[in-house]
Amino acid sequence: MEKRTELYRGKAKSVYTTDDPDRLILLFRNDTSAFDGKKIEQLERKGMVNNRFNAFIMQKLQDSGIPTQFDKLLSDTECLVKKLDMVPVECVVRNYAAGSLVKRLGIEEGKELLPPTFELFLKDDAKGDPFINESHVVTFGWATAEQLQRMRELTLQVNDVLKQLFDDAGLLLVDFKLEFGLFKGDVVLGDEFSPDGCRLWDKETRKKMDKDRFRQGLGGVIEAYEEVAQRLGVPLS
Ligand code: TMP
Ligand code: ASP
Repeated sequence: MEKRTELYRGKAKSVYTTDDPDRLILLFRNDTSAFDGKKIEQLERKGMVNNRFNAFIMQKLQDSGIPTQFDKLLSDTECLVKKLDMVPVECVVRNYAAGSLVKRLGIEEGKELLPPTFELFLKDDAKGDPFINESHVVTFGWATAEQLQRMRELTLQVNDVLKQLFDDAGLLLVDFKLEFGLFKGDVVLGDEFSPDGCRLWDKETRKKMDKDRFRQGLGGVIEAYEEVAQRLGVPLS
């Protein structure tokens, strides 16, 4: 499948049309963004690592019965996906306190959250991806109550599958963000799953192995992503 025209250029990925109106190509770039695009840098190999990482995770989720947008890898930095009508809402699950939860509520970083929290954010950089609740989603028409219920159910299923997968690799899945879309009326997991959109800590040392290394200027960003990939058995080129 060949790329046609650029449909959308995000902060880290570009989206292209294809000859098939139901399929798109995602191109994972080396651009690395944080703080709603206020910090952007190019990190060598990141496009390849995240593309291959995402393919591996989406395949695992698919195998567990979670519908995803992912079809197949096309190259080091590209994959073929179903064209979804995206819901502009980010679903965040937290197993341990970190990031904006710590800032917002003053919870101690690293505290285990039982049961895990489920939060919603509006995907809108200009507004700083504000924290929203379920009534906002329905009232403003971003999704129906039924679609939102399905998004929540799928997000918690993803948490069950991935918590175990990362645990087996000696990693704590601290939190993560998912985005969903509609394909022929069904709610389907879209976007990507990579260390750009989750927090992963080494189980023993609690070393940060995700995009917090970039946000906090800790260095060794791609080295950490590659170590996570290697521990999971993700084939990298
Ligand atoms: P937060 O602590 O900043 O709210 O983020 C929670 C998790 O969701 C963290 O793993 C980062 C991820 N996330 C994104 O990848 N993009 C976003 O726009 C937001 C709000 C969160
Ligand atoms: N993904 C968002 C951005 O690129 C938020 C973040 O990761 O800090 O700005």
